[in-house]
Amino acid sequence: MDKKLYMVSLGPGDIDLLTIKALESLKNCEAICVPTKSSDHSFKKSMTKKIIDKLFVKYNFNKDLIPVYTPMHFKKEDWQYQVDIIQDTLKKYNKVCFITLGDAAVYSTVYYLLDIIKVQDKSLYDNCEVIAGVTSFSNASARVKKPLCMGDSKFEIIPLLDKDIPSTKIYMRPKIGFDTSVLPSSNSFYTFENLNYDFEKITPKKIEKTTKYMTLFIDFYS
Ligand SMILES: C[S@@+](CC[C@H](N)C(=O)[O-])C[C@H]1O[C@@H](n2cnc3c(N)ncnc32)[C@H](O)[C@@H]1O
Repeated sequence: MDKKLYMVSLGPGDIDLLTIKALESLKNCEAICVPTKSSDHSFKKSMTKKIIDKLFVKYNFNKDLIPVYTPMHFKKEDWQYQVDIIQDTLKKYNKVCFITLGDAAVYSTVYYLLDIIKVQDKSLYDNCEVIAGVTSFSNASARVKKPLCMGDSKFEIIPLLDKDIPSTKIYMRPKIGFDTSVLPSSNSFYTFENLNYDFEKITPKKIEKTTKYMTLFIDFYS
């Protein structure tokens, strides 16, 4: 049987903001790899463990939990260690979840780990699914009933670092027939059309002209 790894976004801490897809993957897996900042591999300093405990109670299920020491030092050897634990776990179990706070796309460990897994075990990488979640800032916006962007405005995510950094840009709300040559040239563009609806199409470049309103472009940072 193929081994399956799920990178599960847990959302912003309110278990009612967990997606159904995330819940199903947690219920259907055999073990959950749980990040913890405790160097003794306990769950004392694990925020994700608290969320998992609440989910076990609310939805009446249980899974083996594997601590993954994540010191947040941004060191390759730490990510390698975390990948080693995930791979060891997959020797024992066929379906494993790794969990992360908020959404995996936003400053999470998930993609450091996937970069290593892609090189080390391509078939596991191909069998891995990332499950999207509610971000901390979507939740914050909802809590105070203030939009992040509307009409003629945009929103930016700015990490508080003292250096210039590359940025991902998301272009949305194109008019039908929009000529994309006005967008920057870049090798990191993707076009997403009708995502999750009929005629869904994901193109790993900038399409020339838009034919659907439900089109968004992401120029991923590189
Ligand atoms: C490593 S990033 C993870 C972001 C997360 N993946 C997301 O989708 O929001 C951690 C930062 O997200 C913000 N954050 C995450 N959860 C939060 C919360 N519950 N309350 C306030 N800020 C939060 C804080 O700025 C924190 O320093």
